Amino acid sequence: MAYKMTLLLLLFPVLAFQLLPAVGEPWKAPPEADALVDPLANDPKAVQKGQKIFTSLCWTCHGMSGKGDGPNAEALNVQPADLGSAVVQAQTNGALYWKITHGRGEMASYEQVISKEQRWAAVHYLRTLKQTTK
Ligand code: HEC
Repeated sequence: MAYKMTLLLLLFPVLAFQLLPAVGEPWKAPPEADALVDPLANDPKAVQKGQKIFTSLCWTCHGMSGKGDGPNAEALNVQPADLGSAVVQAQTNGALYWKITHGRGEMASYEQVISKEQRWAAVHYLRTLKQTTK
């Protein structure tokens, strides 16, 4: 009995560590996300549609320019990456769509919040935040 308890106590930190979301770890979408077909690839209104989403749902944390300086950002434990940065912009549309769909930690899953098309539109809007300087 005592042995079993000791074993449990020893294992607990290991188990707890594995169950916690990988806070601070780089967030990578699975490779299959890159193969997702963007239904708005040829939609000239995609950016406009995405802007509506971003400026109503996303800016509160990410900030209007995507830098992560929205009014709610201070309360976050994990600071979101600058959405205009090379790290984010180098990801495929599919990967960004996947992240918006599934979320992680404080970044909620938007699967049940907005439509599939709206999530793809948000990706198109994120492209407009790309920093061109440097
Ligand atoms: C409650 C605050 C909050 C809101 C609202 C929010 N996000 Fe996030 N977002 C985060 C946080 C925090 C992260 C970083 C998560 C992590 O790395 O674990 C993140 C990460 C992301 C990423 C991944 C960036 C990377 O590192 O690759 C994308 C893309 C993104 N958000 C888009 C959106 C979009 C689009 C919306 C609106 C539909 C949105 N977010 C709404 C907090 C938020």
